[in-house]
Amino acid sequence: MKVLIVYYSESGQTEKIAEIFHKVISKKHESVLKKLSELKIKTLTDYDLVCIGSPCHSSDLARPIKKFLSKLPENPKFKMIGFFTHSCYTKEDDEKLYEEWVGKCIPTFTDTANKKNIEFLGHFNCMAAATPAIEKFIHRKIITDDDEWKTYLPLLRMKPDDQDLDNARNFVGKIMEKLG
Ligand SMILES: Cc1cc2nc3c(=O)[nH]c(=O)nc-3n(C[C@H](O)[C@H](O)[C@H](O)COP(=O)(O)O)c2cc1C
Repeated sequence: MKVLIVYYSESGQTEKIAEIFHKVISKKHESVLKKLSELKIKTLTDYDLVCIGSPCHSSDLARPIKKFLSKLPENPKFKMIGFFTHSCYTKEDDEKLYEEWVGKCIPTFTDTANKKNIEFLGHFNCMAAATPAIEKFIHRKIITDDDEWKTYLPLLRMKPDDQDLDNARNFVGKIMEKLG
């Protein structure tokens, strides 16, 4: 199977997940890891599986990835996996904040897959550290309580942690196993 992992990453967090996917997939398959800026859209037809990674921006996937999704061909032979990193809590940790600040990411993947008739095999997401400017924004607008901030900030700065990276490995490992 020929697999493409294409990602957009401004501060290197989503890239960490892309690299994990590449490591796992390349054990048994031909795996190509590419930054979005290096990808030629015409080459997509070469692949059986395309994994697409993005940071979460303004509760949705980043704009360059949304633009890329809009250009995907209809009825391609490739299947699709999505992955994204975000600085707000995961759904399990705080459903309300997650919905408000991360909630559009999965629908953007699934709506694209439905519209383009692409088989969507699932998504992976995890918390990841933010730049100092985004940390400030989060404190000002999202996690405004100082006591909560004291526990949130050290947690955020450690993310993605070993458990997140393991989860990414397991997620993609399981899918690849099923695909055979
Ligand atoms: C412009 C901008 C907007 C962001 N908006 C959100 C957001 O709405 N929700 C969130 O959880 N994280 C948000 N973040 C944090 C990023 O999703 C997070 O730091 C991500 O892991 C960065 O990935 P990257 O290093 O691959 O770019 C934002 C970051 C930036 C730079």
